[in-house]
Amino acid sequence: MNDFTNLENYIKNTPKTELHMHIEGSLEPELMFKLSKRNKLEIPFKSVDEIKSAYNFTNLDSFLKIYYEGSNVLVSEEDFFDLTWEYILRCKEDNIVHTEIFFDPQSHTERGIEFNTVINGIYKALEKANFEFGITSKIIMCFLRHLDEKLCFKVLKDAIRHKDKIIGVGLDSSEKGNPPQKFKKLFDAAIKEGFLTVAHAGEEGPPEYIWNSLKLLKVKRIDHGVQCLKDDKLVEVLREKNIPLTVCPLSNIKLCVFDKLENHNLKKMLDAGLRVMVNSDDPAYFGGYLNTNLIETSKALNLSIEDIKVLIKNSFKSSFLDEKSKNSWLNKI
Ligand code: ADE
Ligand code: ZN
Repeated sequence: MNDFTNLENYIKNTPKTELHMHIEGSLEPELMFKLSKRNKLEIPFKSVDEIKSAYNFTNLDSFLKIYYEGSNVLVSEEDFFDLTWEYILRCKEDNIVHTEIFFDPQSHTERGIEFNTVINGIYKALEKANFEFGITSKIIMCFLRHLDEKLCFKVLKDAIRHKDKIIGVGLDSSEKGNPPQKFKKLFDAAIKEGFLTVAHAGEEGPPEYIWNSLKLLKVKRIDHGVQCLKDDKLVEVLREKNIPLTVCPLSNIKLCVFDKLENHNLKKMLDAGLRVMVNSDDPAYFGGYLNTNLIETSKALNLSIEDIKVLIKNSFKSSFLDEKSKNSWLNKI
């Protein structure tokens, strides 16, 4: 058996967690097509192949346009259930035992879909995942940062009614020009209500957005954070405070944050002692789920099994699982 086969087997056989995955980003072209028919909605594509060939992005915004268009086919509770269940089947395949998923309610409520429809569909699929496969999960509601803070308060109100299902709030969508300080009051209010906070920062935006996510939004994790290496002082703080950085390598290549996987800075972050881990972000759009991300990144960056073990352990340590469950999984790796 060569080293790569060994590495692939290690990745496939080790229990894993995923902390950065947008459920709308797991909408596979086949399901998008099926739902457009079920809901009698027009989509600007004639076939699954045509959808797939549209997935060429030049940056985050060029992706978001297609991603929000795709989300329009999600209408009923059953649609959100089916979407989530398909992702759960991928989790089972990839040996993901715990997942913390994002959802973007504003991309649905803005087109007249009830918040309850969205959350209940997602939640019921996650309950079934726990019952049938023992897969555990948490739900994080993301605010769309290209929208006004005022509009976000509306959806926070909805989240409060579903506190039993939603553990935290995050910040996603178009990063540049929508800095963390725009949402300080909103995050203060969310924290007051008992939600944990995370935020996309330093995906395309500058290190300053990571600083302010920590200082102003009091985040427990930074989503992406790959721009942090441009600021030595920031790296020092991230390392000393053990701030998790939920890196998504294939996403960063598809959105041209790095020109190729061989030039991704994950290994440098790891070597700098940062608490990094690998995630799939929007797997239906970016070429693969968690294992594919881990395998392709390991090959491109020459990661050792020891490196992969650290990545997987970092992910469990950074999850919102209780300490007992965390330790129980960590002992198995
Ligand atoms: N929403 C879905 N995927 C995203 C990403 N990679 N960055 C920001 N917002 C997103
Ligand atoms: Zn993301």
